[in-house]
Amino acid sequence: MNKKTLYTLSIAAAVSMVFSMAALAEGNADKPLVWWNRQPSNSSTGELDMSALTWNDHTCYVGFDASQGADLQGRMIADYISDNIDTIDRNGDGIVGYVLAIGDIGHNDSIARTIGTRKALGTGVEAEGEIDPSPAETNVDGSALVVQDGEIGGLTVRELASHEMKNASGATWDAATAGSTIGTWTDSFGDQIDIIVSNNDGMGMAMFHAWSQAEGVPTFGYDANSDAVAAIADGYAGTISQRADVQAYLTLRVLRNALDGADPDTGIGTADEAGNVLSDTDYYYDEESRSYYALNLAVTSDNYEEFLDSTAVYAPVANQLSEDSSPVRNIWLDIYNASDNFLSSTYQPLLEKYDDLLNLNVEYVGGDGQTESNITNRLSDPNQYDAYAINLVKTDNAASYTALLE
Ligand code: BGC
Ligand code: CA
Repeated sequence: MNKKTLYTLSIAAAVSMVFSMAALAEGNADKPLVWWNRQPSNSSTGELDMSALTWNDHTCYVGFDASQGADLQGRMIADYISDNIDTIDRNGDGIVGYVLAIGDIGHNDSIARTIGTRKALGTGVEAEGEIDPSPAETNVDGSALVVQDGEIGGLTVRELASHEMKNASGATWDAATAGSTIGTWTDSFGDQIDIIVSNNDGMGMAMFHAWSQAEGVPTFGYDANSDAVAAIADGYAGTISQRADVQAYLTLRVLRNALDGADPDTGIGTADEAGNVLSDTDYYYDEESRSYYALNLAVTSDNYEEFLDSTAVYAPVANQLSEDSSPVRNIWLDIYNASDNFLSSTYQPLLEKYDDLLNLNVEYVGGDGQTESNITNRLSDPNQYDAYAINLVKTDNAASYTALLE
């Protein structure tokens, strides 16, 4: 090796050292961060946590339009009652009785769904201009204050009972709790239950298997998990697709764009080089809340065959990126509860397909659904990752994560 080569090499080494020092100095606080599925917000008031949503220039939220989906779910149930008005009242007492499984009283998606059902069925009570989403607990006699009787096609509609399905250790949206609660309810007033409504399919399917399938009682859920969609052939009445195929793509795509220094709309509203692009019937972006919201679709016996595989990638965004322009990068991603039905059976399989297409090497960390520390303990070395995708256990807790990146 001659002197000149040595000299050039050492300059190259020095330059690359300066670059890696710059990268270190940039620090984890400047790396792309996406909040997904649980929007940073105050769990009592629903107010968005804008400091978390604007943590840095490459921070945003990816979810779906909760009230549009909730309205769809409510309308689906109201239409079902109208369409089956002659047979819906099983015990002929003039009341269409339904029970409602609530996922998490502090989660804005769950709150929106409870409101959507009560609004469409006329059972909501307004408190401060909004329908009260509080659980009614038992209301067989119609005396609860947080709900009232509605009316459809000459029949009274009553929310006989509703309850937050949280288990003893604190895990919310808990399917097992829903499965046992329906047993308690049917033991005391089963003949009055004409419809089951659930904030999600995990809980809805638990109640379907425990009771309503055998009884032929229509059951409505949310998420369009594959098992729930398949159950429509066996009497499950309907569900809502929150477009996990669009959301999982967006969750990783926003990180990809930031890492490539690309325009944030690349492969989203504007086609990328591989031809990936979404349309405005798939999602919208709201600048003010720094959030991408997928648009929901109703899934019933009319169209369920198109939704049987909830883990199929969405064709308009299923084109492989080139490693030349989008080299492999490392992502840390957590799932608040490794046993959440929707996230583990629908969302994560989709993420795993899109991570390949987007050349992202993702480390998946599954939490226990109860404590943030169970997850944050496993982000001991944030320096190893180029970007982060966070699914909060509790929507109030964004700072538990950003504190680790400061
Ligand atoms: C889903 C639920 C899920 C929850 C987890 C919601 O969007 O509908 O099924 O349990 O997300 O945060
Ligand atoms: Ca009845």
